[in-house]
Amino acid sequence: MFHANGLSALLWAISMFLGSGLMALADEAPCTLHHEGNYYNLNSLKASQDYEFKTLGGHSFYLNVCRRVTTEPWSTGVPNNVDIAGLVRKDHHDFAVGLVNTTLEMRDTGLMLHLSNGSPCPGEDNLYGSSSIRFLCNPSVYGAGKPVVISQFPEDDNEACQYTVEWQTHFACPTGERGLISGLIVFLVITMMILLMLLIVFSTLYNRFVLGKRGFDQLARLSKIHLLEVMDFCIELFQSALDNVRSSGNRWARLTRDINPASYQWSSRDEEQAMMAADPLEDEHNRELQDTNVRRNDMSNGTQGVDDLGTIRS
Ligand SMILES: *[C@@H]1O[C@H](CO)[C@@H](O)[C@H](O)[C@H]1NC(C)=O
Repeated sequence: MFHANGLSALLWAISMFLGSGLMALADEAPCTLHHEGNYYNLNSLKASQDYEFKTLGGHSFYLNVCRRVTTEPWSTGVPNNVDIAGLVRKDHHDFAVGLVNTTLEMRDTGLMLHLSNGSPCPGEDNLYGSSSIRFLCNPSVYGAGKPVVISQFPEDDNEACQYTVEWQTHFACPTGERGLISGLIVFLVITMMILLMLLIVFSTLYNRFVLGKRGFDQLARLSKIHLLEVMDFCIELFQSALDNVRSSGNRWARLTRDINPASYQWSSRDEEQAMMAADPLEDEHNRELQDTNVRRNDMSNGTQGVDDLGTIRS
């Protein structure tokens, strides 16, 4: 049963690997959000040139979405290597209003993006620039729309440290989710190819090193059963992935249950044995085991036998 255990372990490892792949796929992608059956995606607002608008006191505000600003920051007081999401060009320096955050949040006020850890607030210890950007779905706004500062605190432009920005745009409206399903299909096709390759490689290695075949004999012969099993596996994977995408509940628990190797592979011991019996590799393996047993019996019975080195025992 070495063969069966090895195969189970291999398939288990593969399913764990696939599980984490699916998890990544089912998780929220950067700057997207699933909420009450709707899907929001703000990636289209990423711009090669920052959005520019004014603070309440008339200073320039540069903002980008889901990426760092393209405007060169100047004396912001934050380390050079962090991604500033937006900045205000104050009289004597730039003020970072927060670092890039790709996690969206739905509040009763709307689709929110919270930026924090910007420049140190003027005259405050341990307080850093932050901002809340509220995206409002407005289908009549053509193009990206324009952000507007609706409040800042403190209100004085040179002291201001927290900003609230409102942004009416049609990009904040719920959209369909074309990307996910096609991504899933590509993922499954690649998975199937990897599985097939592994099957061929391992069968060949098995034939060569365990069964000691050489030449063309060592090449894997894919039986119908193997192929059917790979297909079954993929169908189950697809179903569990679909379930998974539909449910917004406890994803990890579902996934590990759905592609648990014990549940998909062989539903009963009988089936497993039937499969093994039908497996030509296993047949040969058994025959070989029997051969060795016969030889061993000969030797232990004390009758004259020939051992592996060919010396004659008496
Ligand atoms: C990013 O946004 C999320 C959701 O609004 C928020 O919980 C989190 O604190 C933010 N992270 C940073 C570093 O601002």
